[in-house]
Amino acid sequence: MNKEILPLPDKNGIIKALPIDISRENMQRIKKFGAFMFLYDFAQDRFVRPCIHKADPKKHREILKNLISSVKNSRVFDIACGTGGAITYFDRSNEYTGLDLSYSMLKQAVKKAKKKSFQKSRFIQGNAEKLLFDDESFDFVLMDTALHMIPEYHMAIAEISRVLKKGGVFVCSTPVVGISKKFDFTWKKISDKRDLHSFYEADIQDACSRNGLIYIRFNTNGGVLYFHAQKRK
Ligand SMILES: C[S@@+](CC[C@H](N)C(=O)[O-])C[C@H]1O[C@@H](n2cnc3c(N)ncnc32)[C@H](O)[C@@H]1O
Repeated sequence: MNKEILPLPDKNGIIKALPIDISRENMQRIKKFGAFMFLYDFAQDRFVRPCIHKADPKKHREILKNLISSVKNSRVFDIACGTGGAITYFDRSNEYTGLDLSYSMLKQAVKKAKKKSFQKSRFIQGNAEKLLFDDESFDFVLMDTALHMIPEYHMAIAEISRVLKKGGVFVCSTPVVGISKKFDFTWKKISDKRDLHSFYEADIQDACSRNGLIYIRFNTNGGVLYFHAQKRK
């Protein structure tokens, strides 16, 4: 499938490629991640990870580093990259593509990438459920702390598999129920109100295997699951 006809980046270095038929749920996310995003990294580290996900932020960073830093000279795709928190773990020999629904979040990510000076980098405002890339375009895909808030998460996993090269790897961290009682208790109270998924590890395993991705659990941290999934060769 030939899809990769993207507009040129705007003055902030962001390619605007949001589909016109964006869902109500995704519009709400854009609003939510639209203001005060310069405070996002601080809030995530001090409040969301420890208090809601019941996860240790330091352990989160170590796990991501372990999963990402060995990737070199590759086409890497950071889906729902937000403010680009994971940019620090990618080797600069990679060609980096960051995609997110939120323009404000992407503006922060562009700043981080400038400091890193990748071989090549690009930033796209787009929807993870409908990726505007050709099949088998990337060697490595990351989705850090976002699957639980993507309305059609099955579609996102199908799209990730489609854009991955055969043998390519999808790395993901996401809160799931069923691995930490402390997390499950808090999550029950907030997930419905905030329109967040309450899925189990088995749901994700199932979505991966339906899309030709070989799932392997890597670690857990409070209610957060880390896994990698290789696309069948
Ligand atoms: C909790 S933040 C995580 C950001 C970053 N990956 C991190 O770990 O710091 C979730 C991100 O998912 C993005 N997002 C939510 N739904 C999305 C969708 N359908 N397509 C693309 N991005 C989406 C939000 O805009 C937000 O930046």
